[in-house]
Amino acid sequence: MSGVASHIPLALSLLQTVASQYPGLQKAQPTTGNVAPGAPTGPGLLATALSSLPTFQTSSQPQSQPSQGASSNSTAVTPPATSTSSLCENCHLKPKYNDGRKTHPYCSKSCAKAKAGGAPSNSTCDFCHSLPKHAGHPFCSKSCARKAAVSNGQTGISGNPPGTCQAPGCQKPTHNNGDYCSLSHKTLAETVCLMCLQQPKLGNSNFCGKKCEDDAEKRGPMILEVPTGHATFKSVADQFKTSWRHTGTTCPPVKRVYKVIGTQTSLSAYNTYKSNVEARGQFVAAGRSEGNENRRWHGTRRGCQLGDKGQTQFCTSTACSLCCILRTSFDISLWGKKTGWGRFGKGIYTSATSSKSNDYSHNICKSPMKAILLNKVVVGKGCKLTHDNTSLTAPPPGYDSVLAEKGGSLNYDELVVYTNDAIRPSYLVMYES
Ligand SMILES: *[C@@H]1O[C@H](CO)[C@@H](O)[C@H](O)[C@H]1NC(C)=O
Ligand SMILES: *[C@@H]1O[C@H](CO)[C@@H](O)[C@H](O)[C@H]1NC(C)=O
Ligand SMILES: *[C@@H]1O[C@H](CO)[C@@H](O)[C@H](O)[C@H]1NC(C)=O
Ligand SMILES: [Zn+2]
Ligand SMILES: [Zn+2]
Ligand SMILES: [Zn+2]
Repeated sequence: MSGVASHIPLALSLLQTVASQYPGLQKAQPTTGNVAPGAPTGPGLLATALSSLPTFQTSSQPQSQPSQGASSNSTAVTPPATSTSSLCENCHLKPKYNDGRKTHPYCSKSCAKAKAGGAPSNSTCDFCHSLPKHAGHPFCSKSCARKAAVSNGQTGISGNPPGTCQAPGCQKPTHNNGDYCSLSHKTLAETVCLMCLQQPKLGNSNFCGKKCEDDAEKRGPMILEVPTGHATFKSVADQFKTSWRHTGTTCPPVKRVYKVIGTQTSLSAYNTYKSNVEARGQFVAAGRSEGNENRRWHGTRRGCQLGDKGQTQFCTSTACSLCCILRTSFDISLWGKKTGWGRFGKGIYTSATSSKSNDYSHNICKSPMKAILLNKVVVGKGCKLTHDNTSLTAPPPGYDSVLAEKGGSLNYDELVVYTNDAIRPSYLVMYES
């Protein structure tokens, strides 16, 4: 049986091929003193794909409609139209950064820098649309180049041709018509870091360490495709399947899973809220997760092809609630004047039942697939309600959320939070419609 170790030098040699195309990144590469005997030295699949980088550019459509804010109700919300002036003066894609006191002309330091350097407005990476392109390349880094290739099915850990090991960098024939050359490569592919797609991830994290996690967040907001053989894919798809409870309907197969990467600012606001709820409720001591955090579904309106094959760029349409939520998370202030809905008032609605959230997932343009979001939600102390109360604008005193339980006027469960920072989109799941 071939061990992981014997394949690592190959992975690293591919990495170096890539790194040589992005020389600025070389100092960040791990060093390898020795190459395993027999390891191929020619350009690998990844390098081949990278040599054709310009053929898989993804950002050719013009960016016109600005978008800011996000959906707040369980179906769809059209955020109020905003003028182009609310968008970054460099990339014209992301909202200007607001530090709580003033709005800056740019969305990020990298855009401010790019503008100062006279870089053109299309100078951001075609994959993350966040960091500047590496000179002469469509992407900012080898890491984004690789992820664009994986996402297009052109290469990477799930893109090898049939009969070839699906582990990162491996091109050996598969064992016994499986997907891998060896058990250790199966394990490697199932647990690989979603950012570098090379090193094994750590425990419950999707990343191999702080560097990859920070690297991802620096490029956020964006989505990262989770390879089909990955443990995270299985966990998310299993939750979709086991929580499909509508009788008389069949659970549609999950086709793709993306990890949603928010910005560092957005994540730290969520974590602060979670710590405060934990401090009040002491959930960890009771054997629960910090802040009684749970994963809940949310279906919304999708106005673009995001999540279809190779489509990882958020659209800028204000009618696409999906992209609005992915950019800036949920926003209660966009709650509209509601008629006949919002049974538990002015909050953000999620469900533990995927088939219920499926009812709120709508495509407003043609696509063979539907989208649903799996979110992390700080439930804290949930107030169980079985009857509607449309006047709620906050959880009842002493509680952090409302748990609308099955029974009374409800056929399926709902969880309602009344604070933006109590929820963040975590995975985008694409399934057959
Ligand atoms: C976009 O970038 C390309 C090179 O990457 C350049 O040739 C083109 O002029 C740029 N377009 C704009 C509008 O800046
Ligand atoms: C959601 O809010 C929008 C306006 O903000 C409204 O037009 C729409 O009807 C609401 N949807 C539901 C189901 O309440
Ligand atoms: C709805 O909630 C508000 C605020 O907690 C409460 O004062 C009111 O009595 C509730 N109404 C019903 C019908 O339960
Ligand atoms: Zn292998
Ligand atoms: Zn990593
Ligand atoms: Zn969209």
